[in-house]
Amino acid sequence: MGRDLRVGILTCSDTRAAGGAEDTAGQALIELVEERGWLVIAYHVCPDEDECIADSLIQMADLDEADVVLTCGGTGFSRRDITPEVTDRVSDRRAPGIAEHIRAESLKVTPRAMLSRGTAGLRGTTLIVNLPGSEKAARESFSFIADQLTHAVEMIAGGGH
Ligand code: MTE
Repeated sequence: MGRDLRVGILTCSDTRAAGGAEDTAGQALIELVEERGWLVIAYHVCPDEDECIADSLIQMADLDEADVVLTCGGTGFSRRDITPEVTDRVSDRRAPGIAEHIRAESLKVTPRAMLSRGTAGLRGTTLIVNLPGSEKAARESFSFIADQLTHAVEMIAGGGH
């Protein structure tokens, strides 16, 4: 039996943080996480600003003790897209296979998947995974990794296979 995961969700978007658009991707992730019976323990919306993103990731990992933090948005090529860089900086170990798998599966859906620079890493016992920012892309990307998250978290907690 898998454990109930504690999941934090962080949307990175100037427009959504300013209230200029609804955060449908973040809401979709909340719904998908809860459908699995997991717990959403934090939900933040940041503009594409280093400090807000870093503070949110650190708070969710260190204070809220999230098992997994899913970010959405800010992974593309616009000048302000910095989510992967901030994720790498606050992580102490990288988890490249997760981002590789998201991109490999996403490329079967759209060649534009090559335009996501999303990364994944571990901060202490928290796994941070970047997903792209549209609702469609976030839903698809979640579906490619969701089945492996429980095993990932069990391994981080020190369990074997
Ligand atoms: N991945 C999936 N599965 N489905 C998509 O529709 N869209 C791509 C890509 N990854 C997409 C996807 C597009 S169009 C972009 S620009 C990049 O994600 C980056 O998105 P972001 O800047 O919102 O993070």
